[in-house]
Amino acid sequence: MSGSPNKNGNTAYAVQYALTKLKDSGFEIKYISLSHKFIAPCIGCFKCADDKRCWQKDDMQDIIDAFFWCDGIILGSPVYFGMVSGQLKIMMDRCVSIRANYGDTMPMSGKLGGAIACANSRNGGQETTLQNLQTFMLQLNIQVISDGPIFCHSGGTIVGEASKDSWGLETVNNLSNNMGNLMIKNMNKGALPPL
Ligand SMILES: Cc1cc2nc3c(=O)[nH]c(=O)nc-3n(C[C@H](O)[C@H](O)[C@H](O)COP(=O)(O)O)c2cc1C
Repeated sequence: MSGSPNKNGNTAYAVQYALTKLKDSGFEIKYISLSHKFIAPCIGCFKCADDKRCWQKDDMQDIIDAFFWCDGIILGSPVYFGMVSGQLKIMMDRCVSIRANYGDTMPMSGKLGGAIACANSRNGGQETTLQNLQTFMLQLNIQVISDGPIFCHSGGTIVGEASKDSWGLETVNNLSNNMGNLMIKNMNKGALPPL
């Protein structure tokens, strides 16, 4: 998922770069861009806890369906003041219906999650933005992964124009490699018995 309002910007490029790598390795992929999606902010009414879905009728239900559908998710954000974009934060808050609905079962458990942050400057807030994305995924009990091996830092990080940032694209490549390898490992292992 690209959380940028720009349909063809750096985040879109980096996320699609990661997804193409996975597609080329045989994974089924779905790309979602938040640009031109209409998602209203969560108003904290918790009606979703009773109704199993948010009462607000907008583009969020397709996104929730995609969360349930996938085995792994790559979230990409442009860095806005060292944080995720507003579009992503609104999307994240609306995912409270996933938690409010399902009590103890945590339906996202066992899925893998990787993060990509795109900023204009070196040290422009990529790592704090990655932490935003990763904290969201951890709170859904998604298993967060890094961009490695080889280097193993905090995720995909892009500086400036994504298509020209070869080092940044290497971190994105390593992230998708890691996700692909771990998904195959998980598939072969099957579920562990409850502790
Ligand atoms: C509101 C706003 C805030 C931004 N804040 C930062 C920032 O804190 N650090 C930075 O390096 N770049 C910042 N930028 C630049 C974007 O992160 C950068 O251009 C990014 O590549 C845009 O991604 P996109 O092409 O997917 O929209 C900001 C841009 C906007 C519009």
